[in-house]
Amino acid sequence: MASPTSGIVDIHTHMYPPSYVEIMEKRTTIPIVRKFPQASDPRLILLEEEVKSLEDALKDPQAKVPGRPLTTHYSSVQQKIHFMDTHGIRKSVVSLANPWLDFLDASESPAIAKKINDEFSDLCGQYPRRLFFFAALPLTASLEDILSSVEHVRGLKYCRGVILGTSGLGKGLDDPRLLPVYKALAEAKLPIFLHPHYGLPSEVWGDRAGEYGHVLPLALGFPMETTIAVTRMFLSGVFDEVRELQIILAHSGGTLPFLAGRIESCVVHDGQLLREGKLAKSRRTVWDVLKEQIYLDAVVYSPTSLKLAAESSGADRVMFGTDHPFFPPLETDEQGEWESVTWNTAAIRKATEGKSAETEAILGGNATRVLRLDEEF
Ligand code: URA
Ligand code: ZN
Repeated sequence: MASPTSGIVDIHTHMYPPSYVEIMEKRTTIPIVRKFPQASDPRLILLEEEVKSLEDALKDPQAKVPGRPLTTHYSSVQQKIHFMDTHGIRKSVVSLANPWLDFLDASESPAIAKKINDEFSDLCGQYPRRLFFFAALPLTASLEDILSSVEHVRGLKYCRGVILGTSGLGKGLDDPRLLPVYKALAEAKLPIFLHPHYGLPSEVWGDRAGEYGHVLPLALGFPMETTIAVTRMFLSGVFDEVRELQIILAHSGGTLPFLAGRIESCVVHDGQLLREGKLAKSRRTVWDVLKEQIYLDAVVYSPTSLKLAAESSGADRVMFGTDHPFFPPLETDEQGEWESVTWNTAAIRKATEGKSAETEAILGGNATRVLRLDEEF
């Protein structure tokens, strides 16, 4: 067991607080929590790709049980601390897991957002200096309500940013109606933690998708969704319009570090962009934005990918994460070490071999600096 004082900070770690689980228990469509006679733990069903198995299991008690077990790892703060201690993680910045408040009606989302953000704040208050959080915004509500929510969370002692999916106000993150939200977040110095949920349309996985578990949507759909969302933001000029906006991309930016060169080439060879005067010599490239406004988590499980992430945005902009409580070990005790964590710590150590300052920075120093984790407020 690693020492809990080794300075590791986990910025990608989720929870569903008890009041959110209650909401999911009352639902009939995804996201939903349901008990099935075939399984001891209640099941958490989140993704579009899981709908078919949900329907099958509701019809037939012999059918494969859908989703994933909703263990105490999802909603118990004591369990989060145990997980942190087991892996030598000193501080965590917890966030509501997907799909956040995206499915709530406008009439209820502001009040639920307030309740859940206050709940996160209280959970963090139980373990001061160990827990911080990214708040969730009621994006289905009016702009006024969203801005009030930003005002509310900026005043919460342990809040260090907001977690956002890619749907925005329903039309994605390049929607100009989001500019006041981006400006308010930048002004409040609250970075966005951008996280996928919707993946790609199920048809792209083909007729045999059911044979491949969740591999295709999670390994490919999630990262492509993030890549598309942030590239749309870049192309729309959001980063130029709101220069102080800071965004942390889940899963090391999806495929952004790998595709940044190709994005740039497609931009400078685009006749329409040229005609519209969007290719001025002074324009900021994707590489500029990666180094000035984007941070990447280190949740890529490979030293090769991690080196690319660190070269793309800078080793001072990459931050360790676990994605707990997703990806538990399937064949060893969940209360012990998780391979999904040790792969990431090993990747960081290998990618930064011989550069101990970079190792420390990615494991915890960057998060501590960027998210002000040495400050109580
Ligand atoms: N699966 C999810 O639905 N969310 C995550 O964050 C990771 C895996
Ligand atoms: Zn995650």
